[in-house]
Amino acid sequence: MLLGANLTAFRRASIQNPDPNTGFATSRFPEIGPMRVGVTGGAGYIGSHTVLALLEAGHEVVIVDNFSTGDRINLQPSALLIEGDFKNPEIMQKFLSQNLDAVFHFAALKAAGESMEKPEAYSAANVRGTLFLVESLSAAGVKNLVFSSSAAVYGAPRYLPVDEKHPLEPINYYGYTKLCIEQNLNWFSRLGKIRFASLRYFNAAGYHRAGKIRGLEKNTANLLPLVMEAAAGLRPELLVLGNDYQTRDGTGIRDYVHVEDLADAHVRALQYISNENRDITVNLGSETGISVMEMINTAKRISGRNVPYRIVGRREGDPPELIASSGLAHQLLDWQARHSDAETIIQSMWNLYKEAI
Ligand SMILES: NC(=O)c1ccc[n+]([C@@H]2O[C@H](COP(=O)([O-])OP(=O)(O)OC[C@H]3O[C@@H](n4cnc5c(N)ncnc54)[C@H](O)[C@@H]3O)[C@@H](O)[C@H]2O)c1
Repeated sequence: MLLGANLTAFRRASIQNPDPNTGFATSRFPEIGPMRVGVTGGAGYIGSHTVLALLEAGHEVVIVDNFSTGDRINLQPSALLIEGDFKNPEIMQKFLSQNLDAVFHFAALKAAGESMEKPEAYSAANVRGTLFLVESLSAAGVKNLVFSSSAAVYGAPRYLPVDEKHPLEPINYYGYTKLCIEQNLNWFSRLGKIRFASLRYFNAAGYHRAGKIRGLEKNTANLLPLVMEAAAGLRPELLVLGNDYQTRDGTGIRDYVHVEDLADAHVRALQYISNENRDITVNLGSETGISVMEMINTAKRISGRNVPYRIVGRREGDPPELIASSGLAHQLLDWQARHSDAETIIQSMWNLYKEAI
């Protein structure tokens, strides 16, 4: 695959007049012009949606992915692919020889429960791997890094909604790996080596509304893919982990943020750090709580199918409710979650899962 030819004029136009189909407002930031952006994990779930948003905003993209959980059908023809493990020094050298202006780092392991059983794997992939990337960027003089962090850095919420001033007390090793990297990014920035955006996602959900990304998320322990699988008959039933919480229907409440909203925030974060020459660490959530039962009922209504489920006991460490404050992202990035309502999320997922029936 080759990067597109010289489409600068088109790209400038597309940055000034974003695709009306995306529904995203024009940014208040001055135009930064096309950049050449390296994306680790660009064939994965959030990475592939972000690659699409970067291309639609007129940037050039170079992906490095080893397809451990990514999917080739998520690749865009105009993005250059370097296939392999970004932790391999030869692959990293190839990646960094691409004259990159910025790197978005998605490639990681992401199952909180699994991280408690296999800390070695999470240490190698998320901590050592990311530090190797940061060291390499610093040595190569690539300044801008956009990092996939997580709400898991906060641990059990002490108050709601959770803002960025909330204590950082991860309760699983996965959350610690993200916090450890954030602390390193702060040091590398303080020492003038990089400039970063650390984006703390809440529950990423949904798929591209127009079906431009079709590879299903792999290795996920998240609720909504399981709801979809139960609706499509791919699993006999869904286990609901507790219905005796102090919430409106007894089931857990979470903040779901549509993956296209996440992708939009990444493009804005890149603009912010390069225009303002400042780091940011922000929450990305919808600021709305949706319960497990509300999601099941929405899935039933939209799919027209039964969603078989069984109530079982609570899972240790699960808080009753987790909701983000995204005020800082509104303020600094002019970002709003625009597609993160239950209907849009479930409809965009069902569009793909129904094909598996
Ligand atoms: N999905 C969520 O709800 C969520 C929430 C918070 C944070 N995050 C973070 O967002 C990031 C992306 O998550 P996702 O849901 O898109 O995951 P994903 O598993 O779909 O994507 C990860 C991608 O990275 C690739 N990859 C993994 N290890 C690699 C390696 N060593 N070398 C090259 N490529 C490699 C995979 O093949 C895949 O394409 C992760 O860092 C994750 O921790 C995700």
